[in-house]
Amino acid sequence: MKYSGYAYIKTIGCQMNVYDSEKLAAILNSYGYEKTIDMDKADIVVCNTCSIRHKAEEKAFSFLGRFAKIKKKKPHLITVMAGCVAQQEGEKAFARVPHLDIVLGTQAFSRFGPIIDAIKSGKKKIVDIKNSAMIYEALPDTSCFEENKISKFVTIMQGCDNFCTYCVVPHVRGRERSRLPAAIIEEITLLAAAGVKEVTLLGQNVNSYGQKEAQISFPKLLAAVNDIAGIHRIRFATSHPKDLSSDLIYAIRDLDKVCSHLHLPVQSGSNKILKKMNRGYTREKYIDRILKLRKECPDIALSTDIIVGFPSETWGDFKDTMNLLREIEFDSIFAFAYSDRSSAPAARFSDQIDEDEKKERLNNLLGLQEYYTEKKNKEQIGKILDVLVEGKSGKLRDGFDHVQKSMEQMVGRTQSNKIVHFPSKDVIIGDIIKIRIENAYPHSLWGHPLGAQR
Ligand code: 5AD
Ligand code: SF4
Repeated sequence: MKYSGYAYIKTIGCQMNVYDSEKLAAILNSYGYEKTIDMDKADIVVCNTCSIRHKAEEKAFSFLGRFAKIKKKKPHLITVMAGCVAQQEGEKAFARVPHLDIVLGTQAFSRFGPIIDAIKSGKKKIVDIKNSAMIYEALPDTSCFEENKISKFVTIMQGCDNFCTYCVVPHVRGRERSRLPAAIIEEITLLAAAGVKEVTLLGQNVNSYGQKEAQISFPKLLAAVNDIAGIHRIRFATSHPKDLSSDLIYAIRDLDKVCSHLHLPVQSGSNKILKKMNRGYTREKYIDRILKLRKECPDIALSTDIIVGFPSETWGDFKDTMNLLREIEFDSIFAFAYSDRSSAPAARFSDQIDEDEKKERLNNLLGLQEYYTEKKNKEQIGKILDVLVEGKSGKLRDGFDHVQKSMEQMVGRTQSNKIVHFPSKDVIIGDIIKIRIENAYPHSLWGHPLGAQR
């Protein structure tokens, strides 16, 4: 059916949710709902949720809770909980959000349209948390793109079979399954035609792309994407250290569009904790992969994810993680305090760590990493780097002087995923320009476009 009205979509969580939200917006658009960024105008509100940590889950409930009052004044408003919390909670979501109309699980996208029809024709409270063997396929609808139209995410696979003991993903996203290479290539070709310059290929473990379905390997998929005209940069996330093959390392080295940046979550530097997490590698094996990677791609930037305060993590284990940071010198890290997830086995492990203790370890870790992030940023000073221009720079923060702050600034990213601010009026969003790096700050770089007046 075709309706008329506005759709407001709130996205919480990871890059895959950003991609999914665009697909949800496209479905709503095809049903006549135009996307709005004004919540008050909305006739349908979708909260695309994340359950990776307790805090993200609470954010979803508190966002949707706000609509109890609004719905009283606006009874035709349809409220939808989509994504991972929806999948996890099912029916139970209605107990916490009584005014909720639809609970749309992670594998129910293809049924979203008919569910809206059913609600419109008077049906109350619909839950769909059924599994689907296939990932929802739909060609991109450029009118539903989020603000950034230069760099897009493309999900290539969903689910996970690794069952790390802390992680809810295999329980809410299901078993690992990959999209067909032809569908991915078609989607990216259309994105390139719409002006997209950079794609980030997404999956919970991209290294095992296509393995179950006996399709092409991930390095071969990268090579196929590398051949798409108009795409200038390729990124991917997330890689699992246990599956980081030499072929993938060679692909990063040899394919000109594949960026020299790898996000390789280590989670912990302690072998005891890695074992309890069921990560399938040791600290030594992780370091060995990094050495191989750095041998083949000496300039590669590295980022990682770390969990502190996993059950039974001692100060000694934590120090192993701190020392790993010193040994590897990551360009950046994402660090989290361990959060109990009832569907993940670690929730039932003994020796849970006190919340204050987790916080203290997290602060120590972030403090240490700050030094390395700034060090890596400083190493860029004097270099001439290719920067993909993403837009006008927002307010410049920490460290920038008043002259810099008063100039018209643009912002972009290096291949290594570092943010660069630079003064310019003449460049266009989507350009790749050479910038001489003049200064480094804790979270970004500053430089001049070559040839630009100082
Ligand atoms: N608690 C804290 N952090 C977690 N992550 C996944 N599950 C949890 C959890 N239960 C982190 C991991 C993962 C990232 C996406 O989120 O570091 O790589
Ligand atoms: Fe979760 Fe581990 Fe799968 Fe990553 S690899 S999604 S941490 S179970």
